[in-house]
Amino acid sequence: MARFSSPLFLLVVSVLAVAVAGAGSTFDVSNPIRLASDRLRDLESHVLNVVGNTRHALSFARFTNRYGKKYDTVEEMKLRFGIFKENLKLIKSTNKKGLNYTLAVNHFADWTWEEFNRHRLGAAQNCSATLKGNHKLTDVVLPETKDWRQDGIVSPVKDQGHCGSCWTFSTTGALEAAYKQAFGKDISLSEQQLVDCAGAFNNFGCHGGLPSQAFEYIKYNGGLETEEAYPYTGQNGICKFSSENVGIQVVDSVNITLGAEDELKQAVGLVRPVSVAFEVVSPFRFYKEGVFTSDTCGNTPMDVNHAVLAVGYGVEDGVPYWLIKNSWGASWGDHGYFKMELGKNMSFDLCVIPSCRIVSLGNFGSNSRPWLGGE
Ligand SMILES: *[C@@H]1O[C@H](CO)[C@@H](O)[C@H](O)[C@H]1NC(C)=O
Ligand SMILES: *[C@@H]1O[C@H](CO)[C@@H](O)[C@H](O)[C@H]1NC(C)=O
Ligand SMILES: *[C@@H]1O[C@H](CO)[C@@H](O)[C@H](O)[C@H]1NC(C)=O
Ligand SMILES: *[C@@H]1O[C@H](CO)[C@@H](O)[C@H](O)[C@H]1NC(C)=O
Repeated sequence: MARFSSPLFLLVVSVLAVAVAGAGSTFDVSNPIRLASDRLRDLESHVLNVVGNTRHALSFARFTNRYGKKYDTVEEMKLRFGIFKENLKLIKSTNKKGLNYTLAVNHFADWTWEEFNRHRLGAAQNCSATLKGNHKLTDVVLPETKDWRQDGIVSPVKDQGHCGSCWTFSTTGALEAAYKQAFGKDISLSEQQLVDCAGAFNNFGCHGGLPSQAFEYIKYNGGLETEEAYPYTGQNGICKFSSENVGIQVVDSVNITLGAEDELKQAVGLVRPVSVAFEVVSPFRFYKEGVFTSDTCGNTPMDVNHAVLAVGYGVEDGVPYWLIKNSWGASWGDHGYFKMELGKNMSFDLCVIPSCRIVSLGNFGSNSRPWLGGE
């Protein structure tokens, strides 16, 4: 702990002391802006002392301050600075190419790709069950663009923390939207119940799982508790499901065929947000804005390592995209969301978004809603 965090601690104490002394007297309290910048300068000079006043050292110092990074030892800080420089190189060289998307430094910038994989992504999942889906295409006309946020049914972006539980957030996101659509009321549902309890359905808690299998679990379990009743801890735990706190039930779910973007578009355009999974490749973790695409990520059933929620689609500067809600906090990417190129599934060397996605439908007691096309 000590070395890096203690100067910050001392500073906080001294700021408090000023505030106390100022109260009830005519003492001229220091300008808080000056205090903040003093603190910044202090932190920065500490970082610069450790890593040396070399190239990118100031960017690193600002980064540690902005994201509240604390390193236990000088060695650790030097190690993180080295990783930060590598990531900065990746970000800058990618942005220089003038692609349809840009990358930026974010709170993952002092992690290696291996660490990122370990902390944020689940193990690759076998999605072959959705090689053949059961969503029926109809010839209804789809809206040109769709953004379910404008309908007010998409719940706020959450943060999965250090746990490969993306599949649980994809699942709750889909069900929260379905609930709002059906009842006009907000609900927040429990990811932790899925982490702790859905193992019999081929899910592995913080080590990964699939929304399709989570929907199956909820269906057979008899429901999913609310977030409040079964809060998120971001760690594997013992199942403590209680049927009294169920917030939603799933009567059935629909699998969309792996790679069939036309089926997905129909479901997203006409029904509601849809859980999807795809393969995250290294630069993606630094996505900032624009339409992401990649020619290195796979599209076979075994390539999937991240599940998210498709909440719409559209076209930006002539490039069609899926609008997707992530679970890495609202400060990641474009306010917690990203855009991924749509219509590339024929090509084997592109990220196909629809991998193993499910449209979920809760049958909420007696108040059930008809499912698109009666599927
Ligand atoms: C942007 O995306 C479009 C559509 O895929 C593509 O034709 C174009 O080459 C891309 N632009 C760049 C700079 O990659
Ligand atoms: C994936 O699961 C299917 C059955 O659901 C199985 O036939 C296939 O062998 C599995 N593939 C791998 C690589 O584990
Ligand atoms: C959808 O796929 C899951 C596995 O990912 C499977 O367990 C489930 O039975 C499928 N659902 C339907 C309705 O086919
Ligand atoms: C995408 O894949 C689906 C199913 O394999 C196919 O029907 C569809 O024509 C493909 N779309 C494009 C744009 O390649």
